Amino acid sequence: CPALLAERTQTVFGVGPIDAELCVVGEAPGHNEDKLGEPFVGEAGQLLNKMLAACGIERSKVFICNILRCRPPANRQPQADEAASCNPFLVETLRLVRPKFLCLMGATATRYLLDQPTGIGVLRKRDLAWRGIPVQATYHPADLLRYPDKKRDAWEDLQRMLSRMGRTPPAHS
Ligand code: URA
Repeated sequence: CPALLAERTQTVFGVGPIDAELCVVGEAPGHNEDKLGEPFVGEAGQLLNKMLAACGIERSKVFICNILRCRPPANRQPQADEAASCNPFLVETLRLVRPKFLCLMGATATRYLLDQPTGIGVLRKRDLAWRGIPVQATYHPADLLRYPDKKRDAWEDLQRMLSRMGRTPPAHS
């Protein structure tokens, strides 16, 4: 993707155990991810860590990746052709990790991985799947930082995900 290559610092691959039970898919690297070469290490990443901790899940046990591996200029949204170019890398990653559950963070991840134009507000309530792997869609942590009122809905989504995974959240959350 020439527009991405011109400005990104490095390719940001997924991170996590190769046999992770849960895989989180975000949108694209931002400023911090582009500098450090790891997904979800900025402010949204800190919130993602807290969301996982509230679920009783350690970040280090989760495979974390994005629709795009290169930071879009000025953090603009990934374009359809960029998502399509990066898709084979994501598909191969998921084929290798073979997670038991996928959590899609935000409208972009949901739209491009599931090829679904329906909004996240509707899809988050559905029992979705990608190639046989159960999927929970929820709001992107960056969205939750901007609109904290949505945190309650995101927590409902995570509880749905945990119940579909056969887990219960820790008592204190
Ligand atoms: N937002 C994302 O969608 N992915 C990242 O890696 C960081 C922020």
